[in-house]
Amino acid sequence: MEIQEIKQRFGIIGNSPLLNRAINIANQVAPTDISVLITGESGSGKEVFSQIIHQMSPRKHGAFIAVNCGAIPEGTIDSELFGHEKGAYTGAVGERKGYFETVNGGTIFLDEIAEMPLGTQARLLRVLESGQYIKVGSSKVEKTNVRVIAATNVDVYDAVKSGKFREDLYYRLNTVPLKIPPLRDRKEDVYLLFRKFTSDFTDKYRTPPIQLDDDAQQVLINYTWPGNVRQLKNMAEQLAVLERDRIITAQTLLTYIPHETGGRNLPMRLDNQPKEDFSERDILYKVLFDMKRDMVELKKLVADIIEHGGVSTNYANHSQTINQLYRDIELPGNPESQFTLQQPVNNNNNGSDAYNITHEAEEVEESLSLIEKESDLIRKALKKHKGKRKLAANELGISERTLYRKIKELNL
Ligand SMILES: Nc1ncnc2c1ncn2[C@@H]1O[C@H](COP(=O)(O)OP(=O)(O)OP(=O)(O)O)[C@@H](O)[C@H]1O
Ligand SMILES: [Mg+2]
Repeated sequence: MEIQEIKQRFGIIGNSPLLNRAINIANQVAPTDISVLITGESGSGKEVFSQIIHQMSPRKHGAFIAVNCGAIPEGTIDSELFGHEKGAYTGAVGERKGYFETVNGGTIFLDEIAEMPLGTQARLLRVLESGQYIKVGSSKVEKTNVRVIAATNVDVYDAVKSGKFREDLYYRLNTVPLKIPPLRDRKEDVYLLFRKFTSDFTDKYRTPPIQLDDDAQQVLINYTWPGNVRQLKNMAEQLAVLERDRIITAQTLLTYIPHETGGRNLPMRLDNQPKEDFSERDILYKVLFDMKRDMVELKKLVADIIEHGGVSTNYANHSQTINQLYRDIELPGNPESQFTLQQPVNNNNNGSDAYNITHEAEEVEESLSLIEKESDLIRKALKKHKGKRKLAANELGISERTLYRKIKELNL
């Protein structure tokens, strides 16, 4: 089949040489029974390629099953794949057919292959080499004819080096390696994919079309996409649903780049453009957005504490907030530790004595009233929830462990 036809048939978007190369390999290997090891980062399209290979093989009318080796407990994976006899282990009431039996004549896609336990690897090697396997708890050799496609988003050879993956199995699976390039290595495809996804999603949700302005296009293309095509697709869906202004700017786009990826995956300047190009600005925007988000969260937290604590003066509010924060980070508690923590300013006592004395007096008085308030609240919460600590802690917004410690400390 022609490469364009394959793309059309399987909804593959992109025209980069690396993607085309991967499609060509899939096309060539599909009609054979050779095992394929697909490698590629999360969300890059490994499962899509496993489907292409199966659908273009003579097995296309046979079954296809995807098994995530990382998601099946070590104790049951053998029995899921190869089946077990009645009474093979405690709880094995009836016999069970494994996938290598039910998929006979079809294709098994073994995802996250590096997570497969060593014992299972031995069974897999045998079935790959001879088509033979033995059910768990049986001694009878069974035959099957299954094609195996495996996938991984880690380097399986690292697992070989650390003794977690059989070297012989690695070579057996890797007869034809198929590498799916990460999105950042096929920048020319990013905008194409984005346009396709936004157009699909605006159709689906009946929202007006989305456009990116020039800066936003650059951000999109130069972002490192740790979650690859899946991440891009999710972003397109969110934009299609959420954004009022249908011409998306770089700033707007940056708010869709996840917080957790920190600085590592910010848009990078990879070419030799002059210093004042957009990405420097974008990084600043991103930092500002993150700060703003943190501020909003902090404000909410403070408001919450004020509301629940019911302390009225500004100073007291501040002091309570700090105490709440200290409490939340669960410092090892002895009865004095809280008192010490309320005066972190005095730990390094080298300032003016007069200042420190007044400050200390203020702190002590305030914290006494807080302690009373606190005991009061804890008592109320416990009463309300009939002594159930978990519920009381929930209501108080502290952990059960903290509540337990407080009950002891405050002698409640
Ligand atoms: N070239 C492409 N064109 C269009 N859609 C694609 C392309 N590559 C991947 N996708 C889409 O991206 C999403 C993720 O692909 P897929 O599930 O195959 O990734 P994966 O590599 O198996 O991810 P994971 O490692 O998380 O299992 C799917 O919705 C898939 O349809
Ligand atoms: Mg997958």
